[in-house]
Amino acid sequence: MTDIPLRKIDHVRFFVGNARQSAFFYRNAFGFDVIAYAGLETKVRHEAGYVLKQGEITFVLTSPLSDQHPESKRLVAHGDGVMDIALDVTDVRACYDEALKRGATGARPPEALEDENGVFETASIRAYGDTTHTFVNRDRYRGVFAPGFKPIDPERYQESTERPVGLAAIDHIVANVEEGKMNEWVEFYRKVLGFTQLVSFDDKDISTEYSALMSKVVQNGTGRVKFPINEPAQAKRRSQIDEYLQYYGGPGVQHIALITGDIIKTVRKMRDNDVSFLRVPQTYYDTLTERVGTIKEDLKELADLGILVDKDDEGYMLQIFTKPVADRPTLFFEVIQRRGSKSFGKGNFKALFEAIEREQELRGSL
Ligand code: FE2
Repeated sequence: MTDIPLRKIDHVRFFVGNARQSAFFYRNAFGFDVIAYAGLETKVRHEAGYVLKQGEITFVLTSPLSDQHPESKRLVAHGDGVMDIALDVTDVRACYDEALKRGATGARPPEALEDENGVFETASIRAYGDTTHTFVNRDRYRGVFAPGFKPIDPERYQESTERPVGLAAIDHIVANVEEGKMNEWVEFYRKVLGFTQLVSFDDKDISTEYSALMSKVVQNGTGRVKFPINEPAQAKRRSQIDEYLQYYGGPGVQHIALITGDIIKTVRKMRDNDVSFLRVPQTYYDTLTERVGTIKEDLKELADLGILVDKDDEGYMLQIFTKPVADRPTLFFEVIQRRGSKSFGKGNFKALFEAIEREQELRGSL
């Protein structure tokens, strides 16, 4: 199957209860700049939208302005979460037609939206749960984001050189799907988008004493778009994926991994901004050098911040996970720095999942 030529992830759209306040969180805690706005003041009547940027990462936060909004039921069903992962393509219509031909379900047919800044093309297909993929092309668009959006009023948000925490790009976006559905979605990405399977983890890699999951990673031809897909596996007690599925009300995006060039600096800043990260026991660091060999970073500093390290044949990587960012134990973020390694942190799964289970225990859902 030939690849559908996806250039990169264009943006991630979150559907949230109060986009104004979410923008404040991602700005002040995660270091994003708020660059554009759509809403009543820009003649958009049904929803408010904020565009946030840091490095190459673009997040869009959307809230309905009434219960007449076609997506308003999402909020009750899922709480705040990722609604759409938009993919930048050279030809929106060709991608959409080809995707449908290969078995995808359309969500929104191709549209060319126009304003004084040019033409913005878009079309969406359905993915797991209520998540969609929008194909976008902005080659003929010069505006700040898309028609309807205006640059943010500088009176409202000032750009800051202090604020960015060094997040540069999206490394991967992980889906949680129901038990037994992982392979179906791997097939979807292979068949519909021409992805290839990169790695897989089974319950022997991932199970702790209590909970287990299985995971496969698919990626596009250039390797720039990577989507791990998890499903719960049978274990003594409830998997973290089951907990997610219960509280999100079905499949959806579990975490977004954001790349930094200096994880120590980034995590230090995020912690100063009150972002909560998962902690592994200090004993993790006692055996770290044994496991990954010598690394450039100061071990004490890593232990102090709770940053995890893993390695493969090509090098090593450093990673850390936030706690869920909403009240429901659903979406969270990963901060990742790669020093050669293409790994997803398999060597950390056990320590990490035990940390997650301690949190599950506190929530009464283990
Ligand atoms: Fe990850």
